[in-house]
Amino acid sequence: MPGSSKAPLAVVTGAASGIGKATVERFVDEGFGVAALDRSGQGLDRLKRSGVGTHIHPYPCDLEEVETLTPLARQIVAELGRPRTLVNNAGVCLYADITETTDEMWEASLNTNLIGASALIRGFVPAMKQVKGAAIVNVSSRNALSSSPRAATYDAAKAALLALTRTLAVELGGDGIRVNAVLPGFIDTPIHGDLLKDRVFVRNYLKLIPLNRIGKPEDIANIIFFLASDGAAFVTGQGIVADGGQMSGQNYAKVFGERASFRIRQKKNR
Ligand code: NAI
Repeated sequence: MPGSSKAPLAVVTGAASGIGKATVERFVDEGFGVAALDRSGQGLDRLKRSGVGTHIHPYPCDLEEVETLTPLARQIVAELGRPRTLVNNAGVCLYADITETTDEMWEASLNTNLIGASALIRGFVPAMKQVKGAAIVNVSSRNALSSSPRAATYDAAKAALLALTRTLAVELGGDGIRVNAVLPGFIDTPIHGDLLKDRVFVRNYLKLIPLNRIGKPEDIANIIFFLASDGAAFVTGQGIVADGGQMSGQNYAKVFGERASFRIRQKKNR
């Protein structure tokens, strides 16, 4: 069978940029060949020309075209062999007031963030059942647990992806396939456009992050690789939040400035 060479195979969606690109690089570092899926043909060309290029198999595709994805998964298995790892990373965030959120936006968001992942899973799972140590990692978001205004389609899709993760962990556990999710906080990638050039925004946002920095794509790639690896062999159905502590709570002094009342000691009741 083609692809039955020694290097294990990982499939990564949204491979051309940000977290996906860092994930591709991490898997290649660990000795994997990678099927790199993305709708950006130029981005895939750049990846192919990069230092990891010889280990990359580019597959341009659009996750919004859901009906193409299960056949694509079967094509990849036929051409490269059975994947050990599937990373459903591609995603889009479309901001709009709920009154401006159109059916087309719902469709684009749900297809890209959720239904496309499920169509790929449908295509890959029969082959992955035959691979020892097989694992699926879904890239959800902290927004699955803590919502943002104007992000209804994104928040709902990422919450559903987390729910899908748990369903599949239960359903596929008996076949030896583990399914987990990563829930990134604010990560410095092109998804944010120029936002991180806005110093006022960054200074204010950092007040929400106990570790006091914006995340790097590698921060998430490391967790994706861990969840896919045998180091996480007894972990399934989980979502790991990687947000520098943002979801843990607010440091009031950092957010509002020091206040005397934050330092008052309660007298003991006698
Ligand atoms: P990015 O914009 O740098 O990369 C996303 C990649 O997905 C791009 O290469 C893009 O071409 C591809 N893509 C988008 N729609 C596609 C489609 N319909 N079909 C095929 N490919 C498509 O974004 P980033 O930040 O690396 O995002 C990766 C994942 O991480 C996404 O699911 C995102 O929602 C999630 N995430 C990112 C956070 C952040 O702060 N950067 C925070 C929480 C979650």
